[in-house]
Amino acid sequence: MGLPIVKGVDDKILRTVSKAVKKIDKDLVKLLPKMVDTMHEANGVGLAAPQIGLNIRVFVMKIFGPSRGKKIDYDNYSVQEMINPEIIEMDKRMINEEEGCLSVPGVFGEVDRHARLKVRFQNKKGMTLLFEFEGLNARIVQHETDHLNGILCVDKMKRKDTEPQSPRLKKREEVAEKTLKARK
Ligand code: CO
Repeated sequence: MGLPIVKGVDDKILRTVSKAVKKIDKDLVKLLPKMVDTMHEANGVGLAAPQIGLNIRVFVMKIFGPSRGKKIDYDNYSVQEMINPEIIEMDKRMINEEEGCLSVPGVFGEVDRHARLKVRFQNKKGMTLLFEFEGLNARIVQHETDHLNGILCVDKMKRKDTEPQSPRLKKREEVAEKTLKARK
C-alpha cells in the first residue's frame, strides 16, 4: 500500500527546503520501498520525500532505458533511490516539455529543463554514485531535486493546462494505467 501524497501549491512541507540525510538508518531503508510503492500506485515517474510529508533530501525515480529515436519505452525502466542528490553538472541546452506533479494533480504545463546532467547521490547502502542522464531521466532528476528545495514545477510553467496536451505525456499515463491494471 502506498502512502498518502501531500498535495497543494501552498503546502508548508512542500515549500520547505529539505535537510540532508546524515545517517542512512533502518527507518530510511524501510521507507524507500514504501516510496517506490507510492510512486507506482500514483502512476508517477518520481517521488520526493516531502511529497509523503518528510523534509529529508531523498527521492525515488524511474530510470528509463535508452530510447530508439524519439520514442521512450515507458515499460522499460529501473527504479533508483537517491539520497542527498546533488546535480553537479548541467548542459546549457534546455528542452521544453510538458510536466505534471503528483502533488499538484490535474495541472500540466511546459517546463524548460537542462538536456543533460550529472547527479551524485548515495544509495541505500551508503555508496556514493555518479549518474549521467539526458532527456526524460534528466528532467525527472531536476523535478525531484526542485522538490527538495521547496520548488514545484508549476512555479516554472509558462502556461498551465488542466489536460495533458502532449502525446508523450498522454502515452505515459496510458502505459502507467495499463501497468497498474496488470498488477491488480
Ligand atoms: Co512533483
